[in-house]
Amino acid sequence: MTAREIMYFSDECAAAQRLADTMGIACRCIESHRFPDDELRVRIPLNPAAHVILYRSLAHPNDKLIELLLVVETLREKGVHELSLIAPYLCYMRQDAENTPGEAVSQSIIGRWLANLFDSIYTIDAHLHRTHELTAAVPLHRAVNLTAAQILGEFVRARGGTPCLLGPDEESGQWVQRMAQAAKLDSAVATKVREGDERVVITLPEMDWQGRDVVLVDDVVSSGGTLVTICGMLRSRGVVNIDVAVTHPLFAHDALNKLHRAGVRHIWSTDSIAHPTNSVFLAPLWSTALNQVV
Ligand code: R5P
Repeated sequence: MTAREIMYFSDECAAAQRLADTMGIACRCIESHRFPDDELRVRIPLNPAAHVILYRSLAHPNDKLIELLLVVETLREKGVHELSLIAPYLCYMRQDAENTPGEAVSQSIIGRWLANLFDSIYTIDAHLHRTHELTAAVPLHRAVNLTAAQILGEFVRARGGTPCLLGPDEESGQWVQRMAQAAKLDSAVATKVREGDERVVITLPEMDWQGRDVVLVDDVVSSGGTLVTICGMLRSRGVVNIDVAVTHPLFAHDALNKLHRAGVRHIWSTDSIAHPTNSVFLAPLWSTALNQVV
C-alpha cells in the first residue's frame, strides 16, 4: 500500500489534480453512475493507499452525501486506515438553530454524520454564523476551517488600484478585515437584514462613495440578492467600478447574470467550487494544512 493518495469525482478533476501536483502524490478518479431511477453506483480505484484524501466540494450536496457514504464504506472495507475529506464548500452549515419549532438543525446533524465517516475534515470559510469553531459543528479533533481572506487579498492587491473592500454584513467583517490587511486597502462593512431567500435590506456605512472603486467581499454568493442590492446602492452614491471577490461561487440559477446586469465588472472566486469565475487556487492552502503535524 502506498502512503497517501487523493481521490476525486470527475467533475472536480482539475482542482484535485492541482492539489496532487502541489503535494507530489497520486490522484485517482472515482467512477459514479446514475441509474434511470436516480440511484447511484460508485466504483473506487483498486488497491487504495493507506491514507485516502477524498476531494469533494459539497455544493448541491444531496446526491454527493450519498456518494460519500458509499465511497467511505467501500474504502474502509478495502482496508484504508485513514480517511480525510477536503470539502472546500461544506454544505448545510447555515441552519445552526431551530428557528421555528420542529426544524432540523442541519448544521449539527450533517456535521456529526460527516465526523462519523472521516478521521479528519478540511474546509474553508465555512458558513459558521453563531457557531464559532468548526469542531462544534463537526466534532473531530482534526476539523479544520481555513480562510481564503489572505490569498484573495493578495490577489486583489496584485490587480492594482485603490478600491475600498466592502462586506455586506456584520459576519463578513472577519474576512474583509483580513483581506484589507493583506491587500493594504481601505475597508468597510454594511449591515444586512434578510427578509426572504432573495430579499435583503442593506444599510451602507457612512462614507464618501463618490468616484470610488469598490470590491465587494463575501464568503458565499448564492442567489446574488445580497450583492445585487448593494450594487444598486453603491451606483446611486457615485461608485465607479464594482468588482466581487468571493470564496464560494455557488451562483444559484441566474445569479451571475443578475450581478453583471447590476453593473459588476469582474467576479473573482476561489476554486472551492468549479466555476468559470475561478481566479484563485486553493491547493497550496490544502497542502499546508494536510502536511501540518498535529
Ligand atoms: C450571509 O450570511 C452570507 O455571508 C452571504 O451574504 C449570503 O449567503 C449570500 O446569499 P445571497 O447571494 O443569496 O444573497
